[in-house]
Amino acid sequence: MLCALTQNAVEASGQAKILPTIRIDVSSDRYTVETGVTDLGPGVPAELQDQLFRPFFTTKPNGTGLGLASSRAIIESHDGTIGFVNLPAGGSRFWFRLPLAETSG
Ligand SMILES: Nc1ncnc2c1ncn2[C@@H]1O[C@H](COP(=O)(O)OP(=O)(O)O)[C@@H](O)[C@H]1O
Ligand SMILES: [Mg+2]
Repeated sequence: MLCALTQNAVEASGQAKILPTIRIDVSSDRYTVETGVTDLGPGVPAELQDQLFRPFFTTKPNGTGLGLASSRAIIESHDGTIGFVNLPAGGSRFWFRLPLAETSG
């Protein structure tokens, strides 16, 4: 799913006609690890925010609309969560959070 999010980030940057600048950040605490992919593209319009993760939803001429839907299925099958935020300065950050495996002791 990192690949799917990064591809979307590059494609979103292309829409904004800027050189793709993608930031990937990873952070964790005792229980979870969170990975984020930030782009400087146009962000997600408010009217589309509820639909992005639906299978086959795409705004691209040759899109499959499966990147986010399959990413969500994979993440949720591992008890994780996936989401995004639009950034005040433009662009968006898509993130997923996975529980760390429990270790004994
Ligand atoms: N980083 C992003 N910035 C803006 N919109 C995005 C971004 N990532 C995804 N989207 C929106 O979500 C839709 C669904 O994404 P996805 O499931 O990967 O399918 P696809 O990339 O084939 O369109 C995209 O068509 C686009 O409208
Ligand atoms: Mg995609």
